[in-house]
Amino acid sequence: MRIAMIGTGYVGLVSGVCFSDFGHEVICVDKDPAKIRMLEAGKVPIFEPGLDDLMARNVNAGRLTFTTDLRAAVAGAEAVFIAVGTPTRRGDGHADLTYVMAAAAEIGQALTGYAVIVTKSTVPVGTNRKVADAVRAAAPDADFDVASNPEFLREGAAIDDFMRPDRVVVGVQTDKAGAVMSDIYRPLYLRDFPVMVTDLESAEMIKYAANAFLATKITFINEIAALCEKVGADIKKVSKGMGMDGRIGAKFLHAGPGYGGSCFPKDTAALARIGQEHAVPMQITETVMRVNAGVKARMIEKLRDLCDGTFNGKTIAVLGVTFKPNTDDMREAPSLTIVPALVGGGARVRVVDPEGFREGEALLPGVQWHDDPYAACEGADLLVLMTEWNEFRALNLDRISAAMAVARMADLRNIYERSDVMQAGFEAYEAVGR
Ligand code: UDX
Repeated sequence: MRIAMIGTGYVGLVSGVCFSDFGHEVICVDKDPAKIRMLEAGKVPIFEPGLDDLMARNVNAGRLTFTTDLRAAVAGAEAVFIAVGTPTRRGDGHADLTYVMAAAAEIGQALTGYAVIVTKSTVPVGTNRKVADAVRAAAPDADFDVASNPEFLREGAAIDDFMRPDRVVVGVQTDKAGAVMSDIYRPLYLRDFPVMVTDLESAEMIKYAANAFLATKITFINEIAALCEKVGADIKKVSKGMGMDGRIGAKFLHAGPGYGGSCFPKDTAALARIGQEHAVPMQITETVMRVNAGVKARMIEKLRDLCDGTFNGKTIAVLGVTFKPNTDDMREAPSLTIVPALVGGGARVRVVDPEGFREGEALLPGVQWHDDPYAACEGADLLVLMTEWNEFRALNLDRISAAMAVARMADLRNIYERSDVMQAGFEAYEAVGR
């Protein structure tokens, strides 16, 4: 099967590489010549564990190539995936479909025979029909079907999520398109990973509903965590006890500094907009967005309390600024709200993050970057654990408490146990919901 992948951002690149690993012939297209040169040189522009090796293997096998020439890539392809960006449009919160529609028109003009045009980007319900219209307008004689194939990849675990998905969702209008999509995913369902084929609108809706639901689950537990702190309950035990109910499930019940990332904030905002447009307000989702903003604000107050009411003049070491571990992605990371509040309050802030420094340097002005958590804690008044990177899970707490001017810790990911921290010589320890 010959596949063209339009867009080599996170989703496009991971999907393209994984499809080639299925044995398909994949050509990845991007408008950015610098990016294509980089990929051709075997370099991966994003940080995703395992992606470089998998890419090299498939490039060497001759199944995976890169180009800026969309027309050449699309000619002869049986499936063309659109995986270009859909940023939140400034002003109205809508997903910006400019790139998707431009790609659709270009693809239409480049088709040489029947192909399925598949949208992988997360797009509002109804977009796939608009993609079909855009293709038809640009190329009235084109022979094609459209399909929706939302992605559910988690950054940092994307390859595993692609290779062993809970499910693949495909929305189509014709059996012919359904057959092409089934062929593409055959290696998965032969290994018993379910491929659900449904209509276009349902597929589009599944993605939004799933992400909004997960964001709700996290936000719900964060709200319960705030209450736990007041009534003396322990959110870790509460989550565990709740999660043992099979109807609830244990996943995505970890309290923390609020969800971030490229998907949940964007998709909840887009779902809320879609609801408004159809006069069916997404009240739960809207509340989740509001409560999540409040969670970050609550973290700032927690840190202020640990600094005796003011950040002014304090030295604060922050461990982890990416929105979660195993990624260099800073999009909507809680650190982008919390760290500026510390800096703005007059604190000297030192930051350690294994990958976040690349994007973080521009996004977090006024902080000092360190490679070593121990050096960052030297003489500090507060240690804030913001992102649960593995290297922060087993710190030598005795060494840290001895090095700090005032040994206090805010563990915003509930990694440590109070008794261990206090035994190591800390004078104060605050977690979330415990
Ligand atoms: C998410 C979805 O999981 C994925 O299916 C979708 O396609 C894209 O969005 P991702 O944003 O990469 O993936 O990260 P995820 O692991 O889901 O975490 C999202 C955010 O929620 C992070 O900020 C994380 O720290 C937070 N989170 C997650 C919690 O605070 N508690 C949890 O229990 C789980």
